[in-house]
Amino acid sequence: MSQTVLITGATGGIGLEFVKIFASNKATLLLVARNELRLRRMCEKLRARGLRAEYFACDLADPDSPAGIAAYAEREGLAVDILINNAGFGDYGPFAEANLQKQLDMIDLNVRALTEMTGLFLPGMIARGSGKILNVGSIASFEPGPMMSVYYATKAYVLSFSEALTRELKGTGVTVTCLCPGPTNTGFTTGAGMTQKRFADIFSLTGPAAVASYGYKALMRGQAVAIHGLPSKIGAFGVRLLPRKAVRELVYRLQK
Ligand SMILES: NC(=O)c1ccc[n+]([C@@H]2O[C@H](COP(=O)([O-])OP(=O)(O)OC[C@H]3O[C@@H](n4cnc5c(N)ncnc54)[C@H](OP(=O)(O)O)[C@@H]3O)[C@@H](O)[C@H]2O)c1
Repeated sequence: MSQTVLITGATGGIGLEFVKIFASNKATLLLVARNELRLRRMCEKLRARGLRAEYFACDLADPDSPAGIAAYAEREGLAVDILINNAGFGDYGPFAEANLQKQLDMIDLNVRALTEMTGLFLPGMIARGSGKILNVGSIASFEPGPMMSVYYATKAYVLSFSEALTRELKGTGVTVTCLCPGPTNTGFTTGAGMTQKRFADIFSLTGPAAVASYGYKALMRGQAVAIHGLPSKIGAFGVRLLPRKAVRELVYRLQK
């Protein structure tokens, strides 16, 4: 029987690449994002290929959304085997000048919704003795991020939460993987109020397909933490050797 996979942030960037991978594996898909038209068209195309594909359009920063998704999955008889908590966004600039509501929405999406989605679907996985969860963190999970302070803090949460669950779930048949991409060429920069050119000038950008493919393999292996790309691996290791003051300064200069 095909596996049922729930993917948040399925309409673009890394999430869309996850959809392509699971579709090629003939999975049953439950897709979540805000853009209903895009979701409907994606599902029509997937159904034309003989797959079962459903969608739930919602703003995950809305506190009612995760429960709405879980209720929909239950109504449709979809027991989620794999949960991909991918939806997230950032915001660039000094915190004191930031749009405060945008920071709170970011916490609601990157932290609260991810936690609630995990809390809603994990017990079913444990009861069935199998399941996989992939939480999308970031290279930002490993250090404080002056000029994107709230975003980095949300991603630190994602890594910490995921790693803690990994240990708690040992022996249950359920695994949690935290995928930590480096700078990736997606719609992320637009959402974060950065220009794609400036982002690309500073960092060498990876394509989202490579990130999703790497994350998929790590998920299937049940790997706890998966940092994509050698520069990001070196960065994540390097910050453990440097004094915290030096790390703060380095990230600030890089981002400024
Ligand atoms: N790109 C990078 O450099 C990078 C690096 C490290 C980590 N990441 C992480 O990777 C994940 C995916 O980001 P991406 O780079 O692929 O960005 P993206 O291209 O902007 O895609 C974001 C996806 O999330 C959905 N989404 C955004 N806000 C939402 C909301 N409030 N409710 C429901 N869905 C929402 C978007 O669809 P709708 O607009 O239709 O809602 C879209 O499908 C994020 O968690 C991000 O933090 C990205």
